Amino acid sequence: MKFRYANGVPEHVSTVTSNLFKAGSDPKVISFGGGMPAPELFPVDEIKAAANKVFDQYGQVVLQYSQSLGYEKLRKQIVDIMKERHVDTEVSNVGIVTGSEQAIDIVSRMLINPGDVVLTEDPTYLSAIDVFKSYGAKIVGIPMDEDGMKTDELEKLIQKYPAAKFIYTIPNFQNPTGRTMSEPRRKELVQIGKKAGIPILEDDPYGAIRYAGEYLPPLKHFDHDGGVIYLSSFSKILAPGLRLGWLVAAQNFMDKFILFKQNADLHTDNLTQYIVSQYLSDVDIHEHIKKITDTYEHRANLMMQQIDKYFPKNVRHSKPEGGMFIWVEVPGVNTAKLYQTCLNNNVVFVPGSAFYADDAQPGTFRLNFSNMNDEEIKEGIKRMGKAISEVVGQ
Ligand SMILES: Cc1ncc(COP(=O)(O)O)c(C=O)c1O
Repeated sequence: MKFRYANGVPEHVSTVTSNLFKAGSDPKVISFGGGMPAPELFPVDEIKAAANKVFDQYGQVVLQYSQSLGYEKLRKQIVDIMKERHVDTEVSNVGIVTGSEQAIDIVSRMLINPGDVVLTEDPTYLSAIDVFKSYGAKIVGIPMDEDGMKTDELEKLIQKYPAAKFIYTIPNFQNPTGRTMSEPRRKELVQIGKKAGIPILEDDPYGAIRYAGEYLPPLKHFDHDGGVIYLSSFSKILAPGLRLGWLVAAQNFMDKFILFKQNADLHTDNLTQYIVSQYLSDVDIHEHIKKITDTYEHRANLMMQQIDKYFPKNVRHSKPEGGMFIWVEVPGVNTAKLYQTCLNNNVVFVPGSAFYADDAQPGTFRLNFSNMNDEEIKEGIKRMGKAISEVVGQ
């Protein structure tokens, strides 16, 4: 059967993500590719204990259909989490989603008509690019520097595209660059969005895993007229297999969001919501997050030391204060060739081109530091250094 696909379905499906998950599951391969948290830190025993309690106390309830916006108690707990993140909100403004990925998809479905412009950091999260494109968006990239999206460039592009549908940003430890948007830029961005009447989709899966530098409030903190839609997730602070995330938005948006959440999957897995809620009641998640940040700080520092030791001297890399990624720029290197040479030596990364909607900055790539142990980081970066010398020398 030759299917007559909808316009948003690409002729050739990108294999970057599936290849990364495949390479990552081969034990011979040292993978700095996928954005995988460290599995040895998953709180398996605590989650198991929470699950047992949930089955004992609420067995029939959790196996039944439930409310589209999620389990009320968990939404209240998220209101508390948001307060810790300097955002005052109400239960009615919180919606539970099946990973923040689902919120990216639903928000896109609600806002994008084919041909609409979406403004994003350039580079940005590759799955968000795919989602926006699937709804027919034209993605316009805003250049970045070490302080995040350049707001002066954004203003120029808004003049060119005044009807842009929304601005997508990952202000903390951005995927893929690891960079963090400065506080003045956050304030400016909120003001620019407000003035132009363009909402902001703030994607914050990494903000809680800061191991250095000063805490910065989310854009949502500076938003007083409901223009910022905030997304976050339990994927990086608990476990991504739970597929549990949340959205915080103004009431007028929530009133419509509920319908689209219903259309997508009726509601997020009820059992998982109860388990995470029970976990949050029984365990101090801050202690757990501290274990994650200690481990990631160590791994990031080790990886940067190894880069400085084994990569050519003209290489530049970001210096993240949290999250899971380092962005590397190697002038003159062909990253497709480098990828192949590295793969032949059983080490993988993600070429920078995957993260650009249009023209990629050549010689760039993303390294993930959360998922490999010390020996793997040392050996993998050493192998990559050798491969870079080989490819640059060709
Ligand atoms: C920037 C960004 N947004 C969203 C997601 C999706 O997260 P979740 O597991 O909550 O769906 C990821 C996953 O890596 C991400 O890096």
